[in-house]
Amino acid sequence: MRHLLSTADLSRTEALSILDTAEEMAAVSTREVKKLPTLRGRTVVNLFFEDSTRTRISFEAAAKRLSADVMNFSAKGSSVSKGESLKDTVQTLEAIGADAIVMRHWASGAAAQLAASDWTDCAVINAGDGTHEHPTQALLDALTLRRGWTAAHGEDPRGADLSGMRVLIVGDILHSRVARSNIWLLRTLGAEVGLVAPATLLPVGVEKWPVSVFYSLDEALASGPAGGPDAVMMLRVQAERMGGAYFPTAAEYTRRWGLTDDRLARLENHRTAAGAQPMILHPGPMNRGVEISAAAADSPMNQVLDQVSHGVSVRMAVLHLLLSSSERNTA
Ligand code: CP
Repeated sequence: MRHLLSTADLSRTEALSILDTAEEMAAVSTREVKKLPTLRGRTVVNLFFEDSTRTRISFEAAAKRLSADVMNFSAKGSSVSKGESLKDTVQTLEAIGADAIVMRHWASGAAAQLAASDWTDCAVINAGDGTHEHPTQALLDALTLRRGWTAAHGEDPRGADLSGMRVLIVGDILHSRVARSNIWLLRTLGAEVGLVAPATLLPVGVEKWPVSVFYSLDEALASGPAGGPDAVMMLRVQAERMGGAYFPTAAEYTRRWGLTDDRLARLENHRTAAGAQPMILHPGPMNRGVEISAAAADSPMNQVLDQVSHGVSVRMAVLHLLLSSSERNTA
């Protein structure tokens, strides 16, 4: 693996290798020695053209725990505002010493374009491109789901996939790179995926995706052989990508597709086939009171903070696998 651009590119073996390496990294981070020397002398650049809290900070933490040097670049306040191109920006960063570029960009396909270009020899990691993909988010979600799924079955997470797990992804699928990366990865790992959304927030062509589609959250929450899901992943409503045309309205959205207190109570009372409560996930940032109630946001069933912690382990694994095997990625 030279770059990480999309979960659609990952085989089952590659995905499990990243998750198992992340488990090793999590074990290292909780021991007394908090740093590994693996990437000493290597430089990771966080190149962010869109805002971020979790992804940028956890890539920084991951790189530092592997002893890499980190440079943080935010397009705001840089020479991008003077018209500097992506090519010139990246070549400038490589001239300063970058070995890996972790890029978030508003344009779908930006990371793939950079990786396919001859502008740089750096490893490229997609940290979210437009509405297209966010592969490390899906990997940290898979790590979180795998821990819960294997714990419920009394199994060791290492080497396990998600065969038989039923995951509902709820909300603004249309604008969600998190949903797309999760769908491809969850299917590769053997999970069943149900999408739940208003028709206006589903992409054209969704019927060709390897998923079930529900327009009613109440119907989806009662579906399946166990009468409910193993996990529910709530998505943020991305009002900033809707150009002012917020449809349905926030109030209608919450009433029909939000994880309200009433729906939380139903999930609390539901038991999966393994006898566990379903897991609630959210990639963050959460819009409390829109797609998720305050009670659901703060529920012990909500994995949102575990997801953030797992993000550091997953990003350590990705950086380790991409950078530690060669002096420089010129293959
Ligand atoms: N989940 C996620 O990508 O969060 P940030 O936008 O804060 O990085």
